[in-house]
Amino acid sequence: MVKTLVQKINSNVVNKPGAVVAIKHLKKSFGTKEVLSDISMSLYKGENLVVLGKSGQGKSVAIKCIVGLLTQDSGSLKVFDEEVKDLSEKEWKALRMKIGFLFQSAALYDSMTVEQNLEFPLTRVLKLKDKQEIRQRIEEVLEGVGLLDAIEKMPSDLSGGMRKRIGLARTLILKPEIMLYDEPTTGLDPITSREISELIMEMQKKYQTSSIIITHDMACAKITADRILVMNNGSFEAEGNYEQLESGSDELVRSFFK
Ligand SMILES: Nc1ncnc2c1ncn2[C@@H]1O[C@H](COP(=O)(O)OP(=O)(O)O)[C@@H](O)[C@H]1O
Ligand SMILES: [Mg+2]
Repeated sequence: MVKTLVQKINSNVVNKPGAVVAIKHLKKSFGTKEVLSDISMSLYKGENLVVLGKSGQGKSVAIKCIVGLLTQDSGSLKVFDEEVKDLSEKEWKALRMKIGFLFQSAALYDSMTVEQNLEFPLTRVLKLKDKQEIRQRIEEVLEGVGLLDAIEKMPSDLSGGMRKRIGLARTLILKPEIMLYDEPTTGLDPITSREISELIMEMQKKYQTSSIIITHDMACAKITADRILVMNNGSFEAEGNYEQLESGSDELVRSFFK
């Protein structure tokens, strides 16, 4: 007998231990519009978790709750076992430093060189002063994204894919333990998308980052996902790895593979 491999997500899903992000029954509305109706999920240490969902389902809203740009109306949101809503501003700020967020439309500062763009988080966020240490960290992260050559360049001299890499470098330079990628390959051609997806894998290996990757690029999901959650109407409806979802019978899930 062939058993369906796609597991239906039960809203009472129990969060297993070892989660770096654990969400239970998260709800969020804007006015009368309910966006997150009931979100429960965990992100485990070192995994790449892909979140699939059609446009307007609440994926970005969910990720913004994790990073503190939005606050949930109800439900539990724990980051490294800390209930975020119970933290003082100072405690949250310290915790927030461990989370990197690559926005859907991450823009570089056009009037600054690549080096200056990367210096910014080091001096403003980490308050580093040692010029040699700063330069060393910039070179290290640029080498990581394969763009050491671009250190003196202006953003306008770079291709879209290169700018995306520098945007990623600017987030990674703070060495986040958790990375949240919102549509990292949207607007890029297939070859550049593949490079970005491979870079996400390299970052996972190199820094043991735990990542949530929001995408509807199935090629990106195939390359990066250890596990996939499918979001629909403000909650998660299916879970599995790429092969499990691809061979499942759920109509909504199948629609992503067409
Ligand atoms: N700050 C906001 N104020 C009001 N509505 C919002 C806000 N942010 C998102 N929404 C609404 O929430 C819904 C989900 O948005 P979003 O999370 O961006 O979807 P997606 O899954 O495409 O990332 C959309 O209908 C959007 O208009
Ligand atoms: Mg979005």
